[in-house]
Amino acid sequence: MLLRDTKLCFGGCRITGTLALSVFTAVLGSLQFGYNIGVINAPQKIIEQDYNSTWRERYSEPIPSQTLTSLWSLSVAIFSIGGMVSSFSVGILSEYFGRRKAMLINNVLAFIGGGLMGMSKISRSFEMMILGRFTIGAYCGLVSGLVPMYVGEIAPTTLRGALGTLHQLAIVTGILMAQILGLESLLGSEQLWPVLLGVTVLPTVLQMTLLPFCPESPRFLYIIRCQEHHAKTLRRLTGRLEVSEDLAEMKEEKRKMDMERKASIAELFRSPMYQQPIIISILLQLSQQLSGINAIFYYSTDIFKKAGVENPVYATIGAGAVNCAFTIVSLFLVERMGRRTLHMLGLAGMCICAIIMTTALTLLETVPSMSYLSMMAIFGFVAFFEVGPGPIPWFFVAELFSQGPRPAAMAVAGCSNWTANFLIGMGFQYVANLCGPYVFLIFALLLLLFLVFTFFRVPETRGKTFDQISATFHNHPQNMMDMDQGKHSTELDYLGSDGTEN
Ligand code: GLC
Repeated sequence: MLLRDTKLCFGGCRITGTLALSVFTAVLGSLQFGYNIGVINAPQKIIEQDYNSTWRERYSEPIPSQTLTSLWSLSVAIFSIGGMVSSFSVGILSEYFGRRKAMLINNVLAFIGGGLMGMSKISRSFEMMILGRFTIGAYCGLVSGLVPMYVGEIAPTTLRGALGTLHQLAIVTGILMAQILGLESLLGSEQLWPVLLGVTVLPTVLQMTLLPFCPESPRFLYIIRCQEHHAKTLRRLTGRLEVSEDLAEMKEEKRKMDMERKASIAELFRSPMYQQPIIISILLQLSQQLSGINAIFYYSTDIFKKAGVENPVYATIGAGAVNCAFTIVSLFLVERMGRRTLHMLGLAGMCICAIIMTTALTLLETVPSMSYLSMMAIFGFVAFFEVGPGPIPWFFVAELFSQGPRPAAMAVAGCSNWTANFLIGMGFQYVANLCGPYVFLIFALLLLLFLVFTFFRVPETRGKTFDQISATFHNHPQNMMDMDQGKHSTELDYLGSDGTEN
C-alpha cells in the first residue's frame, strides 16, 4: 500500500517527496564543498593585489614575491588541512548528534568561514582570509563524510548508487558555479571578490531552513539509538505502509552489531573482519585523488596555457561543464552497470587520456595543432573521472560497512581523501616543474595500478543490502575471492540476509 507522498519514479523505484527533499537538502552541503574547491582559481591575481596593498599599508613596502607566493599557497592549501582535521571527527559527531543534527551544527562552520573570507578585504587582513579558508575546509571535511553517510542510509537499496552520485553531482555543480561566477565580468573583480567568497553562506541558510523538515536516518534511530519510531520515518521515506521487510533487515543488522565489539578506528585495522573493506575504502579514495584530477582543477588555467590553448579561462569552464555532464551520465549508469565496472572504465579511460595528453604536450613545439589534441585529452580525462572515480568512492565506503563500523570507516576514508588532496595541491607544481610535459605519466602509472587493484580486490555492491555486503567480508572468504573476480553479483543472489546460502 502506498502513502500519498509518492511522486517521482527512477529506475523502477519510487522516490517520495520526503526522500527527494532529504537528499536535496543534504547535498546543498556538497554544493558548497564544490564551490569552495573551484572558487579560488580565477580571482588569484586580484586577491594577491589586495594582499600586496595590505602589506604596503602595514610595512610601507611592497610584499616580497616569495612571501606573496607563500601566503597564496597557504590560502589555497589550508582548505585541505581544514578538511583533513575535521573529516576525522565525522564518526564522533554523527554518532553523538545523529546524522541530521550533525549536518545542522556543521553549518556554524560555514557561516564563520564564509563570514571571515567575505570580510577579509574590508578588514584589510589576509589572516582572516586564511583562517576563513581553514574553517570552510573544516566544514567541507565534515560534509564529505556526513552527506554520503546520510544519503546512503536513507536511500532504498536499488537507488543507493544513483542517489549517492548526487553528492558528486552537487560538488561538480558547485565547481562550475564558482568558475562562472569567478569571471572578472561577474564577481571575480577587484571590488566584488569578497562577495564571490562570501556567497557560500546562501546554500547554508537554505539548508538550515529545510533540515528540520527532513527525517533522521531510520537506520541510525533504530540500530544505534534503539528507538522504535524508526518505522514511522521509514514509511515517510519509502511512501509505503508495509515496511516489514526493511525492518527485518535492520533488525538482523542490529542483532549482529550487538554481538560485535564497538568498532573504533583502531578496531577497523585490527579486526580481520574489517581489514579488507577498510583497505579497499582507503585505496578507492586514493584512486580518486591520486588520479591527478585536482591537478587539473587547481591549475587548469596554467595547464591549458602551457598546452597552447588560446582562452584558458573559458577552457577551464569547458572542463567544468564536461565534469557536470559526465556525472549525470554516471548517475544513469551506476545502477545498471555497477560500481566496479564503472570505476574500472573510468580509471582505464583516464590512463589512456593521460598518455595522449603527454604525447600531445611533447609534440606541441613541432606540431602546433597538438594543442587541440591536448585540450580534448584533458576533457576526456575529466569525463572518465566522473564516470567512476569521481562519484563512486564517496558512497562506496558507506556501502561496504554495516551500521556499527560505518562512521569510523567514513572518518578514515575521508581523511585519506583529504590528505591525498592536500599532497596533490601542494606538490603538483613542483613535480610539474621537474618533469615538464611528462608529469601526467606519473598519474597514468598510478591509474594503472589502481585499475589492477580494483580488478582483483573490489567487489560489486549494486542491489545488495548493507547486511549482505558486510556478510560477504565476515563469513565467506571464498565469496570475497569470487566477488574479486566479478562473479559476485550472481553468487550473492543466492545468499540470504545473514550471508548463509539459501
Ligand atoms: C571529487 C573530489 C574532489 C574533486 C572533484 C572534481 O569530488 O573529491 O577533490 O575536486 O571530484 O569534480
